[in-house]
Amino acid sequence: MYTVPKLEDFSPAALDTAAADLLAALKAEAAAASGAEAFAEFRNRWMARKNGLLTQVNELWLKSAPGPAKREVGQRVNSLKQEAEALVTAAEAEAATGALRAKLAGERVDISLPGIARPLGVRHPVLRTLDELISVFVKMGYSVAEGPEVETDYYNFEALNFPPNHPARDTQDTLFVSGQEAKAQRDRLLLRTHTSPVQIRTMENLKPPVRVICPGKVHRNDAPDATHSPVFHQLEGLCVDTNITFGDLKGTLDHAMKSMFGSAVKTSFRPSFFPFTEPSVEVSISCPFCGGKGCRPCKQSGWIELLGAGMVDPNVFGFVNYDAKKLSGFAFGMGVERLAMMTYNVDDIQQFFYGDMRFLEQFA
Ligand code: DAH
Repeated sequence: MYTVPKLEDFSPAALDTAAADLLAALKAEAAAASGAEAFAEFRNRWMARKNGLLTQVNELWLKSAPGPAKREVGQRVNSLKQEAEALVTAAEAEAATGALRAKLAGERVDISLPGIARPLGVRHPVLRTLDELISVFVKMGYSVAEGPEVETDYYNFEALNFPPNHPARDTQDTLFVSGQEAKAQRDRLLLRTHTSPVQIRTMENLKPPVRVICPGKVHRNDAPDATHSPVFHQLEGLCVDTNITFGDLKGTLDHAMKSMFGSAVKTSFRPSFFPFTEPSVEVSISCPFCGGKGCRPCKQSGWIELLGAGMVDPNVFGFVNYDAKKLSGFAFGMGVERLAMMTYNVDDIQQFFYGDMRFLEQFA
């Protein structure tokens, strides 16, 4: 096995020979080291700070060189060490790919093995209904806007003309984020109870005319039952321009409902109240199941109530610096699960949220 010799002769020719011997030994040992363990041993033998062979070169060649030869010997030792280190690094890389190659050489892909069957997902019926609704309004020139599910009191209520402590707030059973008491009321956080705050956010960011729909998840402090869920989805709509009339509202919603439920359905508009619209209406469609004669889904009335809507209250324009003297608009909001239940004949809203594959697979 190679050992670093003591030098007697420090002439360039003698140094060259000694260096060549050392490199030859290093190469031979690198080639012979096979396997991680042998390689670590090889590396240590040559590179160890303490008493590795390259460290010995310092001791045996450089330190013992006579004064006049020191400079020359130092330069040679340095370049020898650099070369040796490069060889070790290269050998290391080679050993790593060699090990991988050896491993791969022992492995075979068995193309006869059966594959893994992964069940294909399908769109959830609620999102399908939402997509359908969105496409109806996109065809009428609406764009889609979104807003946060955790909202401030200001956007969910105040700017929609629900004054602080106004009883209309009680109609929306609100889930409040706790620990907000130190903040001003308008900044306190809550889970949005409707998608209407996106109306405000949109008008803050866009100059009129505006035509947007705002799909999204909303939350209410409602006990779950066959028709209520504390989490559900709404689709909001907002249209603002000059000369928008109640006729535009009626025509738009009538067209949308016919697109969803067939051209035979009729719409009916009855007075209602929302703080952010004046006048406000509840919109019903003639029952698509019985054609208006009366059946179980429409509770024998011939009509099914589906939307809230109205003409944007001028106070709301005031909150977003829209000129209420020049502009008018309408807005509407609907519960998406409600529509999905009608479309897919589902009689319990909870089915949408259980995640039961037997229910969901029916929509594949
Ligand atoms: N935000 C109302 C709710 O959740 C629904 C609604 C009614 C939205 C009238 C509107 C509207 O945009 O004009 O009960």
